[in-house]
Amino acid sequence: MSEVLEPRPTSAARLSLSHITAQNETNLVGTVHGGVIMTLVDSVAGVVAARHSEGPAVTVSMDEMTFLVPVRVGDVVHFSAQVNWTGSSSMEVGVRITADRWDSVTPQVHVATAYLVFVAVDAEGKPRRVPPVLPETENDRRRHREAEIRREHRLARRAAIVASRAQEATSTPETPSTPETAGAVGTVSA
Ligand SMILES: CC(C)(COP(=O)(O)OP(=O)(O)OC[C@H]1O[C@@H](n2cnc3c(N)ncnc32)[C@H](O)[C@@H]1OP(=O)(O)O)[C@@H](O)C(=O)NCCC(=O)NCCS
Repeated sequence: MSEVLEPRPTSAARLSLSHITAQNETNLVGTVHGGVIMTLVDSVAGVVAARHSEGPAVTVSMDEMTFLVPVRVGDVVHFSAQVNWTGSSSMEVGVRITADRWDSVTPQVHVATAYLVFVAVDAEGKPRRVPPVLPETENDRRRHREAEIRREHRLARRAAIVASRAQEATSTPETPSTPETAGAVGTVSA
Protein backbone atom coordinates (compact mmCIF):
# COMPACT_ATOMS: atom_id res chain seq x y z
CA MET A 1 0.00 0.00 0.00
CA SER A 2 2.70 2.47 -0.93
CA GLU A 3 1.35 4.33 -3.97
CA VAL A 4 -0.31 7.71 -3.42
CA LEU A 5 -3.61 8.18 -5.23
CA GLU A 6 -5.12 11.40 -6.59
CA PRO A 7 -7.65 12.93 -4.16
CA ARG A 8 -11.30 12.66 -5.20
CA PRO A 9 -13.92 15.29 -4.31
CA THR A 10 -16.80 14.27 -2.04
CA SER A 11 -19.31 14.89 -4.81
CA ALA A 12 -17.70 12.30 -7.11
CA ALA A 13 -19.22 9.35 -5.25
CA ARG A 14 -22.17 11.00 -3.46
CA LEU A 15 -25.40 9.05 -3.98
CA SER A 16 -29.11 9.40 -3.25
CA LEU A 17 -31.59 6.56 -3.40
CA SER A 18 -35.33 6.58 -2.68
CA HIS A 19 -37.33 3.51 -1.75
CA ILE A 20 -41.13 3.14 -1.46
CA THR A 21 -41.86 0.95 1.53
CA ALA A 22 -44.31 -1.92 1.08
CA GLN A 23 -46.55 -4.21 3.10
CA ASN A 24 -44.04 -7.08 3.10
CA GLU A 25 -41.44 -4.97 4.95
CA THR A 26 -43.27 -4.58 8.25
CA ASN A 27 -42.36 -5.65 11.75
CA LEU A 28 -44.79 -7.12 14.28
CA VAL A 29 -46.23 -3.72 15.21
CA GLY A 30 -46.99 -2.81 11.61
CA THR A 31 -44.31 -0.22 10.91
CA VAL A 32 -41.33 -0.85 8.64
CA HIS A 33 -38.77 -3.31 10.02
CA GLY A 34 -35.59 -1.54 11.12
CA GLY A 35 -33.52 -4.23 9.42
CA VAL A 36 -35.01 -3.28 6.04
CA ILE A 37 -33.77 0.27 6.50
CA MET A 38 -30.38 -0.93 7.77
CA THR A 39 -29.92 -3.22 4.76
CA LEU A 40 -30.61 -0.33 2.41
CA VAL A 41 -28.20 1.88 4.39
CA ASP A 42 -25.46 -0.74 4.00
CA SER A 43 -26.20 -1.15 0.28
CA VAL A 44 -26.19 2.56 -0.51
CA ALA A 45 -23.07 3.16 1.56
CA GLY A 46 -21.39 0.19 -0.15
CA VAL A 47 -22.00 1.69 -3.58
CA VAL A 48 -20.53 5.01 -2.42
CA ALA A 49 -17.45 3.27 -0.98
CA ALA A 50 -16.96 1.19 -4.13
CA ARG A 51 -17.33 4.23 -6.37
CA HIS A 52 -14.93 6.33 -4.32
CA SER A 53 -12.31 3.58 -4.17
CA GLU A 54 -13.04 2.33 -7.70
CA GLY A 55 -13.33 -1.30 -6.67
CA PRO A 56 -14.67 -3.67 -4.06
CA ALA A 57 -15.07 -2.48 -0.49
CA VAL A 58 -16.41 -4.42 2.49
CA THR A 59 -18.36 -3.20 5.52
CA VAL A 60 -16.22 -3.21 8.66
CA SER A 61 -18.60 -1.50 11.04
CA MET A 62 -21.83 0.40 11.39
CA ASP A 63 -22.07 2.79 14.31
CA GLU A 64 -25.01 2.77 16.66
CA MET A 65 -28.08 3.89 14.71
CA THR A 66 -31.04 5.56 16.41
CA PHE A 67 -34.46 5.63 14.77
CA LEU A 68 -35.95 9.02 15.64
CA VAL A 69 -39.39 8.35 14.15
CA PRO A 70 -41.09 5.19 12.81
CA VAL A 71 -41.16 4.54 9.08
CA ARG A 72 -44.66 3.61 7.94
CA VAL A 73 -45.79 1.46 5.03
CA GLY A 74 -46.24 3.82 2.10
CA ASP A 75 -43.51 6.17 3.18
CA VAL A 76 -40.92 7.08 0.59
CA VAL A 77 -37.56 6.70 2.32
CA HIS A 78 -34.62 8.71 0.99
CA PHE A 79 -30.98 7.75 1.58
CA SER A 80 -28.28 10.37 0.97
CA ALA A 81 -24.76 9.00 1.27
CA GLN A 82 -21.25 10.33 0.88
CA VAL A 83 -17.69 9.58 1.90
CA ASN A 84 -16.96 11.71 4.97
CA TRP A 85 -13.39 10.66 5.64
CA THR A 86 -10.67 8.42 4.25
CA GLY A 87 -7.66 6.73 5.83
CA SER A 88 -5.16 4.48 4.05
CA SER A 89 -7.62 1.74 3.15
CA SER A 90 -10.72 2.66 5.16
CA MET A 91 -13.51 5.12 4.46
CA GLU A 92 -16.27 6.48 6.66
CA VAL A 93 -19.53 6.77 4.74
CA GLY A 94 -22.34 8.84 6.25
CA VAL A 95 -25.95 8.13 5.34
CA ARG A 96 -28.80 10.50 6.16
CA ILE A 97 -32.23 8.87 6.07
CA THR A 98 -35.40 10.93 5.62
CA ALA A 99 -38.99 10.01 4.75
CA ASP A 100 -42.17 11.50 3.36
CA ARG A 101 -45.58 10.12 2.33
CA TRP A 102 -46.04 8.53 -1.07
CA ASP A 103 -49.38 10.23 -1.80
CA SER A 104 -48.97 13.78 -0.55
CA VAL A 105 -46.42 16.56 -0.64
CA THR A 106 -45.17 16.85 2.93
CA PRO A 107 -41.88 17.99 4.42
CA GLN A 108 -39.33 15.19 4.76
CA VAL A 109 -38.76 14.03 8.32
CA HIS A 110 -35.36 12.95 9.59
CA VAL A 111 -35.53 9.21 10.34
CA ALA A 112 -31.92 8.44 11.29
CA THR A 113 -28.28 9.01 10.47
CA ALA A 114 -25.79 6.18 10.08
CA TYR A 115 -22.01 6.09 9.89
CA LEU A 116 -20.32 3.07 8.38
CA VAL A 117 -16.69 2.12 7.90
CA PHE A 118 -15.72 0.32 4.71
CA VAL A 119 -12.33 -1.06 3.77
CA ALA A 120 -11.34 -1.29 0.13
CA VAL A 121 -10.04 -4.75 -0.66
CA ASP A 122 -8.07 -6.35 -3.48
CA ALA A 123 -8.74 -9.66 -5.21
CA GLU A 124 -7.31 -11.53 -2.19
CA GLY A 125 -9.54 -9.64 0.24
CA LYS A 126 -6.56 -7.66 1.59
CA PRO A 127 -6.88 -3.92 2.29
CA ARG A 128 -5.84 -1.70 -0.62
CA ARG A 129 -5.16 2.01 -0.68
CA VAL A 130 -8.05 4.45 -1.30
CA PRO A 131 -7.87 7.95 -2.80
CA PRO A 132 -8.06 10.69 -0.15
CA VAL A 133 -11.45 12.38 -0.10
CA LEU A 134 -11.42 16.10 -0.81
CA PRO A 135 -14.17 17.86 1.17
CA GLU A 136 -15.70 20.62 -0.96
CA THR A 137 -18.26 22.46 1.15
CA GLU A 138 -18.39 23.69 4.75
CA ASN A 139 -20.69 20.74 5.55
CA ASP A 140 -18.22 18.32 3.98
CA ARG A 141 -15.41 19.81 6.08
CA ARG A 142 -17.51 19.57 9.28
CA ARG A 143 -18.34 15.92 8.49
CA HIS A 144 -14.66 15.23 7.84
CA ARG A 145 -13.66 16.71 11.23
CA GLU A 146 -16.41 14.83 13.07
CA ALA A 147 -15.53 11.56 11.28
CA GLU A 148 -12.01 11.81 12.67
CA ILE A 149 -13.45 12.04 16.18
CA ARG A 150 -15.63 8.97 15.55
CA ARG A 151 -12.64 7.03 14.17
CA GLU A 152 -10.59 7.78 17.28
CA HIS A 153 -13.44 6.51 19.45
CA ARG A 154 -13.90 3.31 17.40
CA LEU A 155 -10.22 2.45 17.50
CA ALA A 156 -9.89 3.34 21.19
CA ARG A 157 -12.91 1.20 22.08
CA ARG A 158 -11.55 -1.75 20.08
CA ALA A 159 -8.10 -1.41 21.68
CA ALA A 160 -9.62 -1.19 25.18
CA ILE A 161 -11.70 -4.34 24.66
CA VAL A 162 -8.73 -6.26 23.24
CA ALA A 163 -6.61 -5.15 26.23
CA SER A 164 -9.34 -6.09 28.69
CA ARG A 165 -9.73 -9.56 27.17
CA ALA A 166 -5.97 -10.08 27.12
CA GLN A 167 -5.78 -9.10 30.79
CA GLU A 168 -8.65 -11.43 31.65
CA ALA A 169 -6.99 -14.28 29.75
CA THR A 170 -3.72 -13.88 31.69
CA SER A 171 -5.42 -13.50 35.10
CA THR A 172 -7.59 -16.65 34.73
CA PRO A 173 -5.28 -19.24 33.10
CA GLU A 174 -7.31 -22.24 34.32
CA THR A 175 -10.54 -21.22 32.54
CA PRO A 176 -11.51 -24.15 30.27
CA SER A 177 -12.21 -23.28 26.65
CA THR A 178 -15.93 -23.14 25.83
CA PRO A 179 -17.69 -21.92 22.71
CA GLU A 180 -18.03 -18.55 24.49
CA THR A 181 -14.43 -18.20 25.61
CA ALA A 182 -12.78 -19.74 22.54
CA GLY A 183 -11.52 -17.47 19.76
CA ALA A 184 -8.68 -15.09 19.09
CA VAL A 185 -8.03 -12.47 21.74
CA GLY A 186 -7.62 -9.88 19.00
CA THR A 187 -11.08 -10.59 17.63
CA VAL A 188 -13.55 -8.15 19.11
CA SER A 189 -16.99 -9.66 19.01
CA ALA A 190 -20.00 -9.44 21.25
C1 LIG B 1 -11.78 -5.44 6.40
C2 LIG B 1 -10.62 -6.37 6.65
C3 LIG B 1 -10.07 -6.85 5.30
C4 LIG B 1 -9.55 -5.58 7.39
O1 LIG B 1 -8.51 -6.44 7.63
P1 LIG B 1 -7.45 -6.10 8.80
O2 LIG B 1 -6.44 -7.17 8.80
O3 LIG B 1 -8.19 -5.76 10.05
O4 LIG B 1 -6.78 -4.82 8.21
P2 LIG B 1 -6.10 -3.65 9.02
O5 LIG B 1 -5.88 -3.96 10.46
O6 LIG B 1 -4.93 -3.27 8.16
O7 LIG B 1 -7.19 -2.50 8.94
C5 LIG B 1 -7.57 -1.95 7.70
C6 LIG B 1 -8.28 -0.64 7.96
O8 LIG B 1 -9.51 -0.90 8.64
C7 LIG B 1 -9.57 -0.09 9.80
N1 LIG B 1 -10.33 -0.82 10.80
C8 LIG B 1 -10.17 -2.10 11.16
N2 LIG B 1 -11.06 -2.40 12.13
C9 LIG B 1 -11.77 -1.28 12.37
C10 LIG B 1 -12.84 -0.96 13.25
N3 LIG B 1 -13.34 -1.83 14.08
N4 LIG B 1 -13.33 0.30 13.18
C11 LIG B 1 -12.84 1.21 12.33
N5 LIG B 1 -11.83 0.96 11.48
C12 LIG B 1 -11.30 -0.27 11.50
C13 LIG B 1 -8.14 0.12 10.19
O9 LIG B 1 -7.99 1.25 11.01
C14 LIG B 1 -7.49 0.32 8.84
O10 LIG B 1 -7.77 1.64 8.37
P3 LIG B 1 -6.70 2.47 7.49
O11 LIG B 1 -6.07 1.54 6.50
O12 LIG B 1 -7.52 3.51 6.80
O13 LIG B 1 -5.74 3.04 8.47
C15 LIG B 1 -11.04 -7.61 7.50
O14 LIG B 1 -11.30 -7.21 8.83
C16 LIG B 1 -12.27 -8.29 6.94
O15 LIG B 1 -12.21 -8.94 5.90
N6 LIG B 1 -13.42 -8.13 7.62
C17 LIG B 1 -14.67 -8.68 7.14
C18 LIG B 1 -15.40 -7.65 6.29
C19 LIG B 1 -16.63 -8.24 5.66
O16 LIG B 1 -16.59 -9.33 5.13
N7 LIG B 1 -17.74 -7.49 5.69
C20 LIG B 1 -18.99 -7.95 5.18
C21 LIG B 1 -19.78 -8.50 6.32
S1 LIG B 1 -20.46 -10.07 5.92
